[in-house]
Amino acid sequence: MGVRILQLSDLHLFADPDGILFGIPTRTLLRDVLAHVEASGLQPDHVVVTGDHTHDELPATYAAVRELLVPYLDRLHVVPGNHDDRAGLRAAFPDCIGGAGPDRCTFAFEADGWLCLGLDTQIPGEVPGRIGEEQLGWVRAQIAERQPRGVILFMHHQPVVLDVAWLDAIGVEDKAALQELLEEEPRIRLVCCGHVHHESTHRVGAADVVTVPSTGLQFSPTSDETEFVAAPPGYRVIELDGDDCRTSVVRLPDVKFAPVQPT
Ligand SMILES: [Fe+2]
Repeated sequence: MGVRILQLSDLHLFADPDGILFGIPTRTLLRDVLAHVEASGLQPDHVVVTGDHTHDELPATYAAVRELLVPYLDRLHVVPGNHDDRAGLRAAFPDCIGGAGPDRCTFAFEADGWLCLGLDTQIPGEVPGRIGEEQLGWVRAQIAERQPRGVILFMHHQPVVLDVAWLDAIGVEDKAALQELLEEEPRIRLVCCGHVHHESTHRVGAADVVTVPSTGLQFSPTSDETEFVAAPPGYRVIELDGDDCRTSVVRLPDVKFAPVQPT
């Protein structure tokens, strides 16, 4: 019996239950995603949210996110995105955060010999992200201490170039430092990110660096300028079985709402 991990990302909820993000009712679609997961019979052993839990960063919105994730609270792990307030996230999810120290919202858990680490890439007040030497040192120390069979990293911002100009301008700034770590540590097999609201896969060292659709608003995977697309919401499933690690994106069957383009 392997381990199943569910990744959700970029929820962008508002305190107003009917709040709309560029034409997309984000709370409605998050409910649809959670219903789809439930109906699929996945029954994940762990659930990771890789940031942008809220769009308005209000305490009431974090409370609403927590309420929707109640079925998974005993196995939930979260890291912030650029659309998150660290203090608000920590206040709403004190039991889902812990690891690298009080200044960042990170997590660490083990599953069948695999080590899963959540990194906090937020630069407060800015859209791009940064990992920083301190967190990279924490990753190295965790691997040295726990000697896992494999490692999965979770973070909001993407540490690779996508060849999508507007998204490449707001990724991880110190991506070279992470890529160096991936080249030197083959036990890191997967890096799961959000932020770009579409699916992509890149290879660095022994790791697949992957992004995931949002549970709400979808971005174009090719346009060099901001463009939203009418694609269904989605989520990522990671399956661990011994030394094997497989992952895939699941999209909901229907596009229920068309986005409105930015002006
Ligand atoms: Fe986002």
